Amino acid sequence: MCPVSESPNSEGAQYDFVVVSNRLPVDRVVDDTGDSTWRRSPGGLVSALAPVMATNDGAWVGWSGGADESLDPFDHDVFHLVPVRLSADEVGQFYEGFSNATLWPLYHDVIAPPEFHRTWWNAYKKVNRRFAEATAATAAQGATVWIQDYQLQLVPRMLRELRPDLTIGFFDHIPFPPLEIFAQLPWRRAVLEGLTGADLIGFQRPGDAQNFMRCVRRYLGVTFRHGQARISPEGAENDDDAWTLKVASYPISIDVAAIREMAAKPETQERAQEIRRELGDPTTVFLGVDRLDYTKGIRHRIKAYGELLEDGALTVGEDVLIQVASPSRERVESYKLLREQVEGMVGRLNGQYDTMEHTAIRYLHHGYPFQEMVALYLATDVMLVTSLRDGMNLVAKEYVAAKSDGSGRLVLSEFTGAAEQLKQAILVNPHDIDELKELILLAKDMPADQARRRMRAMRRQVLTHDVNHWQDKFLQDLTDLKTPETS
Ligand code: G6P
Repeated sequence: MCPVSESPNSEGAQYDFVVVSNRLPVDRVVDDTGDSTWRRSPGGLVSALAPVMATNDGAWVGWSGGADESLDPFDHDVFHLVPVRLSADEVGQFYEGFSNATLWPLYHDVIAPPEFHRTWWNAYKKVNRRFAEATAATAAQGATVWIQDYQLQLVPRMLRELRPDLTIGFFDHIPFPPLEIFAQLPWRRAVLEGLTGADLIGFQRPGDAQNFMRCVRRYLGVTFRHGQARISPEGAENDDDAWTLKVASYPISIDVAAIREMAAKPETQERAQEIRRELGDPTTVFLGVDRLDYTKGIRHRIKAYGELLEDGALTVGEDVLIQVASPSRERVESYKLLREQVEGMVGRLNGQYDTMEHTAIRYLHHGYPFQEMVALYLATDVMLVTSLRDGMNLVAKEYVAAKSDGSGRLVLSEFTGAAEQLKQAILVNPHDIDELKELILLAKDMPADQARRRMRAMRRQVLTHDVNHWQDKFLQDLTDLKTPETS
């Protein structure tokens, strides 16, 4: 560890690199005897940042996922973890409320109506301040801090006020909405002020960055030139305390090596074959893998699939759809409603089309271990990603990375960030059910050599742009911003 900082502002703080995200990068696991331990969370962000943590005296500030839980900082594998406590009320108002029933639907094209409640906003401010204070107490003098996602948009400015010595990056994993939609937010100025406390803000798509800059111009009166602007603290009379904010897009990716390694294991490949046998050796297996979220277009997918069964274009026994829908945000009303709708649709279709032997849609409402997911990717012929709006969609990239034999077809919504990188996918507007039906059949019937050509091109993209590439680029740009130019 580097020495404890001598700065009065950062007393006791010692970490040169601090990641801040709503959730800590570990999940609690409870064994049969009731004892609980921690396990590293799955996902690209965590595995990409693990080596950076290990080599940079890194710490991670976040919430454990439980209510009313006071935990002291602790170490787990390469991570030094700094838990931030949320009371049960704050879980309701900050996490389920403002984050997931106000911002999430607002930033995803108002697919579900966002709710605006002043009590939720107050909780959001209070919890963001707690994250900022925990970070300020953890970061060493001059440290780099990387804040993640929409739950923590006020942290950059709060942190800069507490610790002007820090270099602050922010990455928005979800879409940033067009001005006309963002304008609905009663606290739009405060959110923009919060974000503009950063030195660098990354978005998934260039379009998100443009939406953001347009909102900043409109509501804060700040103009960007080539993605950069000078930001002054409120009430500042001169430029001395101002900082330069850079805004750009950095499309996130996945841990390609981990997926390829898992896909290459004989056990994973055997499991893939077993999955097909268990399904009765159908001709075509379609796959959907999503958090059970209304942004994912699961209803549109099932509607199209059901109509294809009705038309006789797909047949139970010969074709099957596996839909993995992992439980998510289950106490939020719009998620409860979605679950009822999806399960109602699946139940009706299966009731109508199942035979004693075969099912139309194999619906699985659970999360799966990584190996089972990769086996599913290997076992299936067509992946259906039909999001109505999606910051990136990493499942699409995982599917491509897993298919090392060049097989597989990807139907991909044009409303995902991934569509900007996976241009050889079969791109679809999921709102157009007739088009979706046509393209599902096109994917199934596409000649093998054509499908392989497309998959090869997509694999080239994903294999050369993994999540390490993403974090290297972001952190390098952040460092460059703070490094005085030498001539
Ligand atoms: C999206 C968000 C993440 C979030 C994840 C799971 O990917 O961008 O910030 O962690 O969903 O949602 P949850 O509410 O369970 O954290």
